[in-house]
Amino acid sequence: MAKRVVLAYSGGLDTSVAVRWMIEEWGVEVVCVLVNVGQDSDSSESFEDIKSRALAAGALECVVVDAREEMANEFCAHAIYANALYEGKYPLVSALSRPVIVRHLVDQARKFEASAVAHGCTGKGNDQVRFEVGTHALAPDLEVLAPARNWGMTRADSVDYAEKWDIPIRASKEKIYSIDENLWGRAIECGAMEDPWAAPPDEPYTLTRATRTEPVELVLSFKAGLPVAIDNEPFELADLIKQLNDRAGATGFGRIDMVENRRVGIKSREVYECPAALAILAAHSDVEDLVLERDLHHEKARLETRWAELIYDGMWFSPLKEALDAFMIDTQRHVTGDVRLNFSPPGLLRVSGRRSPSALYDHGLATYDAADTFRHADSEGYVKIYGLGVKTWAARQGAKNATPPRP
Ligand code: ARG
Repeated sequence: MAKRVVLAYSGGLDTSVAVRWMIEEWGVEVVCVLVNVGQDSDSSESFEDIKSRALAAGALECVVVDAREEMANEFCAHAIYANALYEGKYPLVSALSRPVIVRHLVDQARKFEASAVAHGCTGKGNDQVRFEVGTHALAPDLEVLAPARNWGMTRADSVDYAEKWDIPIRASKEKIYSIDENLWGRAIECGAMEDPWAAPPDEPYTLTRATRTEPVELVLSFKAGLPVAIDNEPFELADLIKQLNDRAGATGFGRIDMVENRRVGIKSREVYECPAALAILAAHSDVEDLVLERDLHHEKARLETRWAELIYDGMWFSPLKEALDAFMIDTQRHVTGDVRLNFSPPGLLRVSGRRSPSALYDHGLATYDAADTFRHADSEGYVKIYGLGVKTWAARQGAKNATPPRP
């Protein structure tokens, strides 16, 4: 019996060609898994259309899995707790969806009694790392195949290959962008953007076209670390993200243009559009400013950087990530409150107010007017003792310190 392989199928050129290529070159049976993580801003093609392409390419079966709620309630939720921005800018769009896909890939590999899983990534990116490390973490016995790393075809060769085998692809040799999308946003690569100096063309953006010219104000409410309502209207997380993508995106907010460090040592120019993700993270960290005690807040900020790096590097399923999640979740108990967001077209966001029943902000302590309850006299001894070490040092070495060193 031929070896059976379960392929993470997207419907794009590479994974479509991969189906036929693995059958021809490796003599395997291919089962495709198409995971819906919210990549549906292009409504011109349904999941059924994509599924029929997999079958036309020669797949034994194409299983479609709706993982939108899982993507939101588990993967985006944890990213929100951790205010996750890789290198301070990128909300981990693709890095968050890969472990979701891996989970279903492994699940279907078990159902179909396959001995291997496969992905369509090339050898230059992060996604191969995420697929492979993730699979090994969940199923150390499964082999992972990467046909696109082996076939040595250019994009034009792949188009020819698809035509030769009558695979009804939509890509042409001129199609220039590589786009990856899910609920949390869109990643756009290639084309003119490969020159870091060239301004990105307007054409590939879909979520952040400023169709509104008037400012938009809305109130985002959080409960225990997660956004639960917009202007008092409650939403499930997946729907709230979609709503915000529409409402914030219509003001042109949510574009990111950066040079990032890939896991594999390559610097690359990346363009993203993530209106909901960026708005939620800005609001979430603003509620935290109000409710987290200082030491906890500062330590959390340090660990957030590490959390984002781990996810970027494909370590969703890893012991350190699990331990950090336990920390992050513990910090979220009192992250409840409202944040007022002001979007000014094209593309500006300001937080203009925040409130929380758990706020540690105390007006009596903070105010400079008559309501002041702070005992100023208490500070005298405190500041003296706080500065005592420096004062002692200065008394001994004072003469030397007072004279600036000559260059
Ligand atoms: N650079 C981003 C990341 O590594 C985006 C990757 C997008 N993937 C893609 N196949 N176009 O997370």
